[in-house]
Amino acid sequence: MAHPITKSNILVFLALALVLYSPPETAAGVLYPQFYDFSCPQAIGIIKSVVSNAVARDPRMAASLLRLHFHDCFVKGCDGSILLDSSGTITSEKRSVPNRDSARGFEVIEEIKSAVEKACPRTVSCADILAMTARDSTVLTGGPSWDVPLGRRDSLDASLSGSNQNIPAPNNTFQTILTKFKLKGLDIIDFVALSGSHTIGNARCTSFRQRLYNNTGNGQPDFSLEQKYAAQLRANCPRAGGDQNLFSMDPASPTKFDNGYYKNLMALKGLLSSDEILYTQNQQTMELVKHYAENQDDFFKQFAKSMIKMGNITPLTGKHGEIRRICRRINT
Ligand code: HEM
Ligand SMILES: *[C@@H]1O[C@H](CO)[C@@H](O)[C@H](O)[C@H]1NC(C)=O
Ligand SMILES: *[C@@H]1O[C@H](CO)[C@@H](O)[C@H](O)[C@H]1NC(C)=O
Repeated sequence: MAHPITKSNILVFLALALVLYSPPETAAGVLYPQFYDFSCPQAIGIIKSVVSNAVARDPRMAASLLRLHFHDCFVKGCDGSILLDSSGTITSEKRSVPNRDSARGFEVIEEIKSAVEKACPRTVSCADILAMTARDSTVLTGGPSWDVPLGRRDSLDASLSGSNQNIPAPNNTFQTILTKFKLKGLDIIDFVALSGSHTIGNARCTSFRQRLYNNTGNGQPDFSLEQKYAAQLRANCPRAGGDQNLFSMDPASPTKFDNGYYKNLMALKGLLSSDEILYTQNQQTMELVKHYAENQDDFFKQFAKSMIKMGNITPLTGKHGEIRRICRRINT
């Protein structure tokens, strides 16, 4: 039968062409939540169940897993680079200043990876596992949910220097941190909303000691830290020693994802300098802090948006990178 060229045939042809056309390499921003719907529909459920068991065993694990995704995305993009151990030409990011003696949860990621590999070999990337794990950790602790855009692939290398330079330090200035966010395409609103992650989890004495004793090199503490709270902190964070002693960043509800973080900032009880400066050093962020302290819904909505934005930082897609079999090393 002949195929007369009709308007509707042209439309069908165009629609087919759109569906069949797959660009040689896909650019950033083309991740989508349905990426594994056909290739590994089980992945989402497997990940959720392993994360939920891990968090049941150790409630802090939710915070640790959420942070891994952040520390992954800020270094060469969300590509699983943080998960690689040192070997051959690879120098692991695990030994960077922000990660050393601090980043944790790697064994949970490997547990997820091996369960997912059993169900669908060589299909789901470690980078995507980190992104889904961050969402599940947020939900499990009472925070917002979002559909995680997927389709990231795993890097073939790591960047120790990138980990040291791109990830903000707790004593960085407001401008330095904002600049580090902007370099990753994130803005001042993302800075405030994503810092709200510090409503769960711990920090070590070494991450805020400077504020307690010698904040600006003049032998004085940070006066923007509430003085009774500072005294309590000094009890377990001495001038010397106790570097690894742990402190809840939101002592009232350390395993509950809520807006307590912003209330703490308003009470001058932000644990890290990088937290408190959101309230004390910039009008726009101060207003956002006040708003999120009053309106948890708006915090949750912005947090979900900003997490998706962070998850879109220069992913490897298409034929770039690989799907690792084991997250801590590249395939050979
Ligand atoms: C804005 C700049 C940020 C700075 C300066 C910063 C710094 C820190 C520091 C120093 C710690 C404690 C580490 C330790 O002492 O072992 C920490 C913990 C944590 N950070 Fe951040 N962070 C920032 C942003 C973020 C973002 C964007 C996220 C997630 C989206 C995040 C999630 C977390 C979580 C959940 C913890 C607790 C981890 C645990 O208990 O294992 N942080 N952060
Ligand atoms: C920030 O902390 C690091 C590590 O403790 C220290 O070397 C550096 O001097 C501090 N920077 C400022 C500006 O205080
Ligand atoms: C505070 O820090 C400065 C600069 O790092 C140092 O020279 C000074 O001795 C310190 N003072 C005290 C009391 O620790």
